[in-house]
Amino acid sequence: METIVDKLFPAIKQFGPILYKFLSAIEDAPFIVQMEPTSQCNLSCVMCTRTLSPKPARDMSFEEFERVAYAVINSHSWIVRRLFPQVLIFDLTGIGEALLNTRFLDMVEALKRRRVTVTLADNFTLMDDTAAERIIRAGVDVLFISLDASSKQTYEKLRRGAVFAKTLGNIERFVKVQKRIGALKPRLIIRCLVMSENVGELPQMVRLARTCGVGSVSFDHLNPSPATQHLKVSRSAYERAKRQALQLGEELGITVLCAPYPKQSHARCTRPFNSVNVTVEGHVLPCCFSNERKHYSELAPFSMGNAFEQNVVEIWRSARFRQFRSMLSQRRAPPFCGDCYLYRLDSARDREDGAGPSEEPPRRETQT
Ligand SMILES: C[S@@+](CC[C@H](N)C(=O)[O-])C[C@H]1O[C@@H](n2cnc3c(N)ncnc32)[C@H](O)[C@@H]1O
Ligand code: SF4
Ligand code: SF4
Repeated sequence: METIVDKLFPAIKQFGPILYKFLSAIEDAPFIVQMEPTSQCNLSCVMCTRTLSPKPARDMSFEEFERVAYAVINSHSWIVRRLFPQVLIFDLTGIGEALLNTRFLDMVEALKRRRVTVTLADNFTLMDDTAAERIIRAGVDVLFISLDASSKQTYEKLRRGAVFAKTLGNIERFVKVQKRIGALKPRLIIRCLVMSENVGELPQMVRLARTCGVGSVSFDHLNPSPATQHLKVSRSAYERAKRQALQLGEELGITVLCAPYPKQSHARCTRPFNSVNVTVEGHVLPCCFSNERKHYSELAPFSMGNAFEQNVVEIWRSARFRQFRSMLSQRRAPPFCGDCYLYRLDSARDREDGAGPSEEPPRRETQT
């Protein structure tokens, strides 16, 4: 059954960033917090930083998590904390498989007790009945199921270490538990990163969602990185597959969400103006893109501070973070953002794909 969240989700995706930028400016605190519960993973997906640039395995402790989460919640006004806590969004997704952190579900439950919005992405290889029941009963709002193919062959090639039939079984089991409990939340969304390897399977992904009892599919793009360039899909192949998937979605009653093909001119980045990304080591970064794009050893110099040692909201309000935002506002690319598609486009490739020349190129800077 389509819920109000289902109906509003496209609008939230489209207008949310601007609304949240406005709210964060009023309260001078982040409204969206992304936290990385662990850097451990049981898979080695071909496109993921966890595989391409692994970092030492570590879990965020429950105490570290509490320190960051409550610092953000408590920094907001009484109106937000007491009357509208749902406008605060915590995304407990980092580069790793969160269910490997034995305190992860405690973190989810602790956040939901504060009535904030919680979203997660999971590979569903470890999703058993107990985890499903705790996630559903806690009231998680949106759960992305990372499933990048509709065939065993492609799935197991991209998501190395996973077994297609087992993952599908776990998804179906989750749906059954949710039906038994009679809960409308979480909203389940199958998330597929579109790559040259799987673009032909997009329409079948919509069918698969229907078979598994999941109401939505989201097609997203790789964050640009030299290491994943060979997996990038061409614009024409994506647009063709997207049309077919959207049509099939209409026929089958499945909501199909399609990210626009990455290009420079469509967006100014709003992320550092409304959100923070806290890595498993406590680094406060302006966005998760950086965490995925750069070698982890290159990230520390870009850290705005350590949220396990200093209040994360003080870091958010620091001169260093403000200067970073100011550079973005003036279209002076901080080196951190240099190859991000929200800032700068691989213009040669885009012209090749028929997008036309990019807009005024950003000025480059050497310091953050
Ligand atoms: C890094 S994973 C962590 C959560 C969990 N392990 C999973 O796979 O869902 C979070 C999301 O990032 C996506 N992802 C992986 N590599 C990516 C890349 N190079 N660019 C953009 N997203 C990526 C995954 O498909 C997944 O949906
Ligand atoms: S995408 Fe998720 S499951 Fe795959 S390697 Fe990365 S963190 Fe692990
Ligand atoms: S432009 Fe910079 S801050 Fe914004 S998403 Fe890209 S890398 Fe992150």
